[in-house]
Amino acid sequence: MNDAAIQVDHLTKRYSAGFRRPPVQALTDISLDVKKNEIFGLLGPNGAGKTTLIKILLGSLLPTSGAASINGFGGADWRSRLSAGYLPENHRFPPYLTGRQMLFCFGGMAGLSSTVIRGKADALFDLVGLHQWQNTKIRKYSKGMMQRLGLAQALLNDPQLIFLDEPTDGVDPVGRHEIRTILLNLKKEGKTIFLNSHLLAEVEAVCDRVAILNKGRLVKVGPVSGLLDVKPAYRLETAEMPPVVGEETTTAFPTAKIEGTVITVTLETPGQVNEIIDLLRRRGVDLVSVAPVKVSLEESFLELIQGDGSHE
Ligand SMILES: Nc1ncnc2c1ncn2[C@@H]1O[C@H](COP(=O)(O)OP(=O)(O)OP(=O)(O)O)[C@@H](O)[C@H]1O
Ligand SMILES: [Mg+2]
Repeated sequence: MNDAAIQVDHLTKRYSAGFRRPPVQALTDISLDVKKNEIFGLLGPNGAGKTTLIKILLGSLLPTSGAASINGFGGADWRSRLSAGYLPENHRFPPYLTGRQMLFCFGGMAGLSSTVIRGKADALFDLVGLHQWQNTKIRKYSKGMMQRLGLAQALLNDPQLIFLDEPTDGVDPVGRHEIRTILLNLKKEGKTIFLNSHLLAEVEAVCDRVAILNKGRLVKVGPVSGLLDVKPAYRLETAEMPPVVGEETTTAFPTAKIEGTVITVTLETPGQVNEIIDLLRRRGVDLVSVAPVKVSLEESFLELIQGDGSHE
């Protein structure tokens, strides 16, 4: 219990959509916890409810039912936010300020004195790689630089728990790699990170555990490795494929697809490919080639998400 930084208990959120329109069910019965010092990823497609969950945790939205707490304090309790930093999605910083002025402005609003901010600014600009840009007006910043500045802002109060909503949105691959390194270093310093993303590769690279959210429902929670069980798939090319043998194959292996003389099939175990080969041999069908097909994590993630929609 004590090592939970975040607890979410049967949380449901419905947005009212206005006069005579049905409410939007953004979250349905979500329960999860985030341990201290882990990097936890909330992964899901657009509209899954990721931002809604962060906003409820930070107390800027009220849940319809259920509860969410940070270090034991509910979202409505201001003490929950004392130890938190937040990089919102689609944030807009005043374009007429320089990066440095913005840090002073936002730090001031968070109740930090100028002396404290001055003491931290240089190290933060170094950390996010914006040192030489700190006195440039934000209107000249690229999308990636804005995200880095947002990250510096989120770290200003030296938070124990950092919420990042799509932190690498608009950032190029080099920048993404740098942000990943920053997050891993923050973890080494003992921080807890809650990361929202619609990018599988991003959470895979950096998170200890991941929750997959789809249409407001939790599909899966677990360690990154093994979260998506990628099944072995094969491509078997035959010399010729009589229709009757094709039918027999698809009856015995329902995932098999036959196009001309080629069979593609997803199996439970790699050894099962021998059963298909035996079947073809029994029917006198010659094989030209047998090769494993690489199924990416991305494909199996899509399969999971698409499969989930059907039983809603
Ligand atoms: N203020 C609001 N009023 C009504 N509906 C809303 C409101 N905010 C979000 N929604 C709806 O709630 C659902 C979840 O939205 P949310 O922004 O939490 O998703 P998300 O996973 O963060 O998506 P994205 O990846 O696009 O940022 C969506 O259907 C969205 O249209
Ligand atoms: Mg969002």
